[in-house]
Amino acid sequence: MTKKVRKAVLPVAGLGTRILPAAKATPKNLLNVFDRPILSYIVEEARAAGIEHLIFIVGRGQTAIEDYFDSNPELEDQLEAKGKADILADVRKDLPRPGEMSFVRQMAPLGLGHAVWCARDLIGDEPFAVMLPDMLMAADPPALAQAVAAHDKVGGNIIVVEPAPEGEAHKYGIVALEGRDGRLNRMTGMVEKPAPGTEPSNLFISGRYVLQPKIFDKLADQQRGAGGEIQLTDAMARLMAEQPFHALEYEGTTFDCGDPVGLLRANIAFALRHPSLSGAARRAAEELLQGR
Ligand code: UTP
Repeated sequence: MTKKVRKAVLPVAGLGTRILPAAKATPKNLLNVFDRPILSYIVEEARAAGIEHLIFIVGRGQTAIEDYFDSNPELEDQLEAKGKADILADVRKDLPRPGEMSFVRQMAPLGLGHAVWCARDLIGDEPFAVMLPDMLMAADPPALAQAVAAHDKVGGNIIVVEPAPEGEAHKYGIVALEGRDGRLNRMTGMVEKPAPGTEPSNLFISGRYVLQPKIFDKLADQQRGAGGEIQLTDAMARLMAEQPFHALEYEGTTFDCGDPVGLLRANIAFALRHPSLSGAARRAAEELLQGR
């Protein structure tokens, strides 16, 4: 019997250098994708996967994230008084149940591995999810739910992957597979930014993971890797010597909101699939493309 995945770690303490100056005073993950901040979609995805506790790893200058997930009585009272029930419901949708969210400060951005390690006491001895919130995924069922279902099936560690664009695999963390049969395959290794022509597959690590708590032992020695950072990939590679890892080629599309063009693509895609505003969004996009 595999243990249920109840908790997710959301590291948001990076500097967001690829999207400066937009992310200078607004945390990158509160930037907008059409009508809501990126984190609103991520929290919805986590809940859809049955996550009961979200652990944000935050940095300095990111208190706006905690404020976003707190009630704002003045605003809510005003909306109520003006009878704006729809907007009020939308504003309240993202609010946590009491105790559903924790915020941990990563006092220096020492790398993704270090950020995840900061959650060790809150995770304890159970499998957990990691979600990189700048990777926004349009998928049905949502990407993390697909990963949790894979974990329920095979246990161990699950890494969500997807095919890299033609000729671009060397830009990403790439997985090596024992064999390729269907979407869920046993892994034999992973390599960060392989030299062109040496990629073990075309599948890159795309930002959702289910990991076993043993990963914290591997992160504990704080070994520095590429870029002088404490890398999650290095710790996972070492854990792979002891525990099974599967790569899940999920069904869906990923948007890297950490760079301006990726964020623009996400804005267009989510506008075009918005339940009530997609028609207006499409007309606006067509007008702009036609130079009107
Ligand atoms: P990225 O490298 O994509 O984010 O890290 P970044 O560092 O913010 O962006 P650039 O490269 O400078 O533009 C992946 C995720 O890990 C978090 C980031 O916030 C992002 O969500 N992270 C990274 C941390 O929380 N702490 C770190 O020390 C490093």
